[in-house]
Amino acid sequence: MNPVQKLFSCFFDPNTLKFPKDFLWGTATAAFQIEGHPDEYSQKLSDWAKWIDEPGKVLPPTGNGDAVKHLEHLDEDIALIQKLGAGAYRFSFNWATIHRGEDDFNEEALLYYKKLIDSLRAKEDSSQRPIKLFATLTHFVLPSWLAEQGGWENPNTACEFNNYTNILLDYFGDDIEDWITINEPNIFLGFGYESGIWPPGKTKDWNGYLKAYQGLLTGHELAYKSIKAFDPKYRVGFSQNMYFFQSLQEAEFEATNQNKYSGNGSDNAQGFVSSDTDIKDADGKRLTRRADLDKVPAVIRNQLHNWSFIESCLEMGCLDFLGVNYYTRFIYKFSTLARDPANSGLLSDLWGGLEKAPKNYKDIFTGKSPKYNSLGWEVFPEGLYRVLTSHKFKQLIGDLPVYITENGYSHIEKDSELDLEDDYRVDFIKNHLKALHKAMKEGLNLKGYFYWSLIDNFEWALGMDPRFGLIHVDQKTYKRTPKKSYYYYSELAKSNSIKLV
Ligand code: NOJ
Repeated sequence: MNPVQKLFSCFFDPNTLKFPKDFLWGTATAAFQIEGHPDEYSQKLSDWAKWIDEPGKVLPPTGNGDAVKHLEHLDEDIALIQKLGAGAYRFSFNWATIHRGEDDFNEEALLYYKKLIDSLRAKEDSSQRPIKLFATLTHFVLPSWLAEQGGWENPNTACEFNNYTNILLDYFGDDIEDWITINEPNIFLGFGYESGIWPPGKTKDWNGYLKAYQGLLTGHELAYKSIKAFDPKYRVGFSQNMYFFQSLQEAEFEATNQNKYSGNGSDNAQGFVSSDTDIKDADGKRLTRRADLDKVPAVIRNQLHNWSFIESCLEMGCLDFLGVNYYTRFIYKFSTLARDPANSGLLSDLWGGLEKAPKNYKDIFTGKSPKYNSLGWEVFPEGLYRVLTSHKFKQLIGDLPVYITENGYSHIEKDSELDLEDDYRVDFIKNHLKALHKAMKEGLNLKGYFYWSLIDNFEWALGMDPRFGLIHVDQKTYKRTPKKSYYYYSELAKSNSIKLV
C-alpha cells in the first residue's frame, strides 16, 4: 500500500477491485441457441434448422432444434435473469421466425419478445429493477427464404435486414436503446465460406466470402442508419469475435523470459510491424531480433479476423460502440502446408500451423501454465488484456465505448452434481475481469461485461454437449439449476467489484 492508500485504508481494500459506478454487468444468449421455437425446426424456417439435419454437420446430441426450450420455460428463465441481479441482458431476436417472407412478419413470434422485454423492463411490475437490454438483430442464423436466394451474398438480403430492423423498431423501439446489428461477422464468414463447417457450407470460397462481407457491411450500415433515424441518441454497434493472435516465436520467448515480459508484447505480434522490431526486456534492453516467419500467419489472421470489419464500420461512420467477444489465444508457426484448425482435411495458405502454448508460459492473471476448456480452447485472460491494450486497438478504437459482449467457459458434463460446483468457471470469470480491470486502469473505455452464457445451450456445429451456462439444463427434463458460478456472478454484479482472495 502506498502512503495515501494507508491513510485511507479503511476505504481501500487491496483485495477488492472496484468497477466504475455505471459499469454494466450482464449475461448473453442468442435465439437459436436457446429458444426451441416450434415452427423453426418443423417448418425449417432457418438455414440452421436445416443444417442440423444434414448428416455429419452437427455433433450429436443436436437437440433437434429444441435447444433448451427457452420459449416453453420463458417465465422461469425471466425469473432467473431477475434473480441474478445483473443490470443488463443481451439477447437476440430470431430473424427467421419473425420474418417469414417478403413483407411477411409473424405477429406471434414478435409477441413472444414483447413478454420478455416487458418483464425485464419491469413495465408491469414496479417491484423489479428494470434491466437494460442489448438486442442483437442477427446472431448467425438466416431465414431460409433469404438463404435460398444467396444469403448475405445477395445484396437484397441487406435490404430485407433493414426492413426487419424497422419492424423491430416499430414494435420495441421505445424499450431498447442499445442495438447490436450483427454478431461476429468474422466467424460467420470464416466458418461459412472458408472452412465450410457452417451454412452455407462453402469451402475456401473467397469470392462468396467477399460478397457476403459486403452484404453484412451494408446490412450493418442500413440498420445503423434506421436505428439512428428512430432515435439519434440510441447506441448501435456490432459484436466482433477477437482472438489474441501470437507468433510461436514470441510465445516461446516470453515463456522462457517470463519475468522479462515488458507488457508491450501485444504490439510486437499485432498489426503490421516492420521486420526488425525487437523484443525488449522491462528495462528496454534489446533481447533478441524476432523471427519473422511465424509472425506472418499471426499478423494476417489478426488483420482479417480482428480488425477489418471494425475498420470498415469506422470508415463508414457507423459505430457507436464495439462489442468484443473474447475466448482464447491462437499461436501460429509459419507453414505453407498448414492445416486449417476448423477442417483438418483442408490445406490452408492463411492459417499457418496452429501450435499449443508453451507449457512453461504463465498467464499474468492466473499465474498458471496453459489450461484448456473442454473444446481445447486455451484459457488465457492475458490475451484479452493484450488485445484491448494493443497499439492497434487503441489506434482504432480510441475512446469509443467498448463492451465485452461475450466471454465464457465451456465444459462437457460428466457428473451433473459435480458440474454444478463449477469452480473452473468461477476462476475463469474472476481472471478475465482482473484482466479487464487492468486494461481499464490503463485507459480502456469499458462500459460493461456480458458473461456467455446465461444458460447452457446449443453450441452450433458442436451440438448440445459443450456447456457455457451459469445455469445448468438437464437435457431430458429441461430442469434449470443455477451453478456455483451463477451465485458467484450474482455477487460480483451486486457488489460491482471482484474479490481477489
Ligand atoms: C460466440 C458466439 O457468438 C456464440 O454463439 C457461441 O456460442 C460462443 N462464441 C461460444 O462458441
